Amino acid sequence: MIHENVDKAKKTQGCPSQDGGNAAQKQQEQKAMIKDTLGKIKHKIFVLSGKGGVGKSSVSANLAASLSKKGYKTGLMDVDVHGPSIAHMLGLTELLDISPDQQLLMPKQVNENLKVVSVQALMQDKDQAIIWRGPAKTGMIQQFVGNVEWGELDFLIIDAPPGTGDEPLTVVQNIPEALGVIVTTPQEVALSDVRKSISFCKTVKMKTLGLVENMAAFKCPHCNEPIDLFKNGGGAKTAKSQGLEFLGSLPFDTRVVSSGDEGVPVMFGETPTEFTQAFDTVVDNILKQL
Ligand SMILES: Nc1ncnc2c1ncn2[C@@H]1O[C@H](COP(=O)(O)OP(=O)(O)O)[C@@H](O)[C@H]1O
Ligand SMILES: [Mg+2]
Ligand SMILES: [Zn+2]
Repeated sequence: MIHENVDKAKKTQGCPSQDGGNAAQKQQEQKAMIKDTLGKIKHKIFVLSGKGGVGKSSVSANLAASLSKKGYKTGLMDVDVHGPSIAHMLGLTELLDISPDQQLLMPKQVNENLKVVSVQALMQDKDQAIIWRGPAKTGMIQQFVGNVEWGELDFLIIDAPPGTGDEPLTVVQNIPEALGVIVTTPQEVALSDVRKSISFCKTVKMKTLGLVENMAAFKCPHCNEPIDLFKNGGGAKTAKSQGLEFLGSLPFDTRVVSSGDEGVPVMFGETPTEFTQAFDTVVDNILKQL
């Protein structure tokens, strides 16, 4: 079962060649499982950012919500081992479902079209910090990607670990056909983070769908005056200078925070707001490229 395998990965991390041919065979099996799992999914979208806190998970959750609402069979996968937050954002408390033969993780069904799985399901205690070292972590990520029973999907949205290190790399290496969506805040785009994300995509030869600017202007609830909390316009400018598609700019909206806490993504709402309209533009700009 998954937990046992994760334990094993932890134990053998000091010496990967310890069990010789066995390990190689396991690796092969794992690869075959990943291929089998991902083969039934039409489009994989890898949501990434240069650093945490820019709204990667919020964008992932709302993208999945929006696509499912449009009638697409959608899966949402949280692979952020350091800060898994997707389950909470979708209002899920029960996470771990194992298939009858104990081989696969069963995603949680949020609505008719949306299934969710979080790496959190592999962490016994929700608040437990992940302090595993590199090899154990990448082993777990690899296993996680191949061990989910998604079935047929139109979209799989992957909330990747932040940054450009080993962990996002492991995810991409196992899902090479994934298309990247880079999330950033406006003030950050002028800095090196986005360029790092772009160079990461180039290095791993991952195609990108484009850049989303999140937490742009905030409208004062009293006078409706826009306030640029994190500056303005950097997203479009950076996208242009880097030859990336600009997918759109999402305003700062306190409802994104409260809805995340309440476990119902804003994009499930029925009343259009500036945020949902801006988000619709992002989704349209993604769909027209596929
Ligand atoms: N457009 C937005 N407006 C207001 N708050 C936002 C927006 N996007 C994200 N947030 C909030 O910012 C915080 C970080 O977002 P999160 O999606 O968890 O980022 P990441 O996954 O990149 O770490 C959360 O509290 C979230 O509710
Ligand atoms: Mg996150
Ligand atoms: Zn005001």
